Amino acid sequence: MSRDEDRQFAPAAARNREPILRALRFILPASGLVLEVASGTGEHIVHFAKAMPMLTWQPSDPSPGARRSIAAWITSEGLGNVLPPLDLDAMSDSWPLDHAAALVCINMIHISPWVATEGLMEGAGRILDAGAPLYLYGPFRQAARSIEPSNAAFDTDLRHRDPRWGLRELAEVTACAAMHSLRLDRVVDMPANNLSVVFRKALPLS
Ligand SMILES: C[S@@+](CC[C@H](N)C(=O)[O-])C[C@H]1O[C@@H](n2cnc3c(N)ncnc32)[C@H](O)[C@@H]1O
Repeated sequence: MSRDEDRQFAPAAARNREPILRALRFILPASGLVLEVASGTGEHIVHFAKAMPMLTWQPSDPSPGARRSIAAWITSEGLGNVLPPLDLDAMSDSWPLDHAAALVCINMIHISPWVATEGLMEGAGRILDAGAPLYLYGPFRQAARSIEPSNAAFDTDLRHRDPRWGLRELAEVTACAAMHSLRLDRVVDMPANNLSVVFRKALPLS
């Protein structure tokens, strides 16, 4: 049984959930199941689920503590359109679901080894239908822009914490996505030097 004390709070999630929601309103389909990979505390998904009740929301995280927090948030907010959190590691080649109408992944790819990004793209390519979106949010490097000082400092800090972590180059993420039939749809500047990056599953060649 979930308990209120299991709820975790991430100050960044409270700050960025509204700008992300505004972006998602333009990107997500009108109905269907939205899978979130790396739901963390669960604060994002309950916020989005309240604002977009016509969608069914599927949270996930490989961390047991995160899943307890997500379950506690779902209970405390009394939401009927959020499913219990799944134990889903993007790096695994077997995911606990085989279809979603959209996939959302916020602030994961720079705080995990590159193989997690590869696994995310492989999984998204497998479970999304043609035209369905994969939404990424977070800080990126971009070859055409010099890195912002705050993102450079964040990148250094991440690499100190784990040399396999660090801000990803958008062109490399895009190339990885393309290997799984995911085409870059749009890139939107977000507050605090973050980006919304939208990929869509390509239509099969006829
Ligand atoms: C910085 S937190 C972001 C959480 C939440 N999306 C947010 O923005 O508040 C990174 C999350 O990624 C999850 N994570 C790390 N490696 C992962 C992987 N290989 N597959 C799925 N999730 C992963 C962690 O458990 C953690 O919850």
